[in-house]
Amino acid sequence: MEKKYLFSPGPTMLPPEVLLKMAGPIMHHREPEFEKIFAEIREGLKYLFQTKNEVLIFTSSGTGAMEGAVSNILSEGDKALVVRGGKFGERWGEICKAYGIEFIPIDVEWGRAVDPKRIKALLESNPSVRAVYTQASETSTGVKHPIHEIAEIIKKHDGTVLVVDAITGIGVFNLPMDAWGIDVLISGSQKALMLPPGLAFAALSDKAWKFVERSDLPKYYFDFKKELKSTKKNQSSYTPAISLFVGLREALHMIRKEGIEAVFRRHEKLAEATRAAVKALGLELYAPDSPSNAVTAVKVPDGIQGGKLKNMFFEKFGITVAGGQDQAKGKIVRIAHLGYYERLDMIMVISALEMLLKEMGYPFELGTGVKAAEEILMK
Ligand SMILES: Cc1ncc(COP(=O)(O)O)c(C=O)c1O
Repeated sequence: MEKKYLFSPGPTMLPPEVLLKMAGPIMHHREPEFEKIFAEIREGLKYLFQTKNEVLIFTSSGTGAMEGAVSNILSEGDKALVVRGGKFGERWGEICKAYGIEFIPIDVEWGRAVDPKRIKALLESNPSVRAVYTQASETSTGVKHPIHEIAEIIKKHDGTVLVVDAITGIGVFNLPMDAWGIDVLISGSQKALMLPPGLAFAALSDKAWKFVERSDLPKYYFDFKKELKSTKKNQSSYTPAISLFVGLREALHMIRKEGIEAVFRRHEKLAEATRAAVKALGLELYAPDSPSNAVTAVKVPDGIQGGKLKNMFFEKFGITVAGGQDQAKGKIVRIAHLGYYERLDMIMVISALEMLLKEMGYPFELGTGVKAAEEILMK
């Protein structure tokens, strides 16, 4: 028998409740029934993003909303600051480049969080910077960036907005958009939202909407102003991924039922247990100082090839974990715990890690990692 398990930081495993809803007959997106679903989704997303403003939904992967957060926020000749501490930070730079936006990179060592003081200093010496682009959770390294501190700095600059890619942050840890003053907050469906890939989300503060008013960069599909108008009528501008919307309503119900605080606590516990297990096995975290509760990046021990370990997870147990990218290739495996994951899911993946390491000749006592995780999970 073969069972498959996703422990990759997106796509993630899906709840049967969501799958069942999406399996229903397709409806038309201009029908009153769909508008009703849309209205519920709008409220659910505001709860999840912790904002009074609308959350825009695009039928695309998360990168679509990232692109929109450049093409709708900036104007020709504007300058940006880009936090580059991994693959997704680099993506902000690539999008800016595609739109002819000059940007100052803040290069951060992989596995480390950005120091907000660097942002503060660069903003003071470059007052023409209009936007700061960062991740909340840099999925490629397993790092959490200090968004609250960064937001405090940017709040003092009227002419600058903070744009946060929270694709693996939303629904994982606290990012209260309005309370912290985050100007643009982005997410995607295939992460903590417990859905298949295909939807991207963007919420904007009142300050960010003013930037949209003056933005003159070219845009068509990802036109925030146009989408806001449609959203307010419980419509999307173009044909949406209807089945995903139906699934989204269910996923948002589930989140609301559990309660956002409880959702954060669950993620924290699963992440803590995973980190404790890995350390008990004598392995090192790739992001030791500021780990994200979305995904744990583990350094593979000397003599073990990360790519091989990742492949063995799948071959022996049907488990998909992620490997490292670019400079982290072959050096890490990334075990995700965002979305539809519970305590015993982590025990399973840690147990699989132990069995594989044992087979590969890494010396330790079987059960050490599982025990460490159990001790946290029982608290
Ligand atoms: C932090 C972060 N940003 C951006 C993306 C890109 O999202 P997508 O692949 O949905 O376009 C991902 C996907 O893994 C991500 O984790």
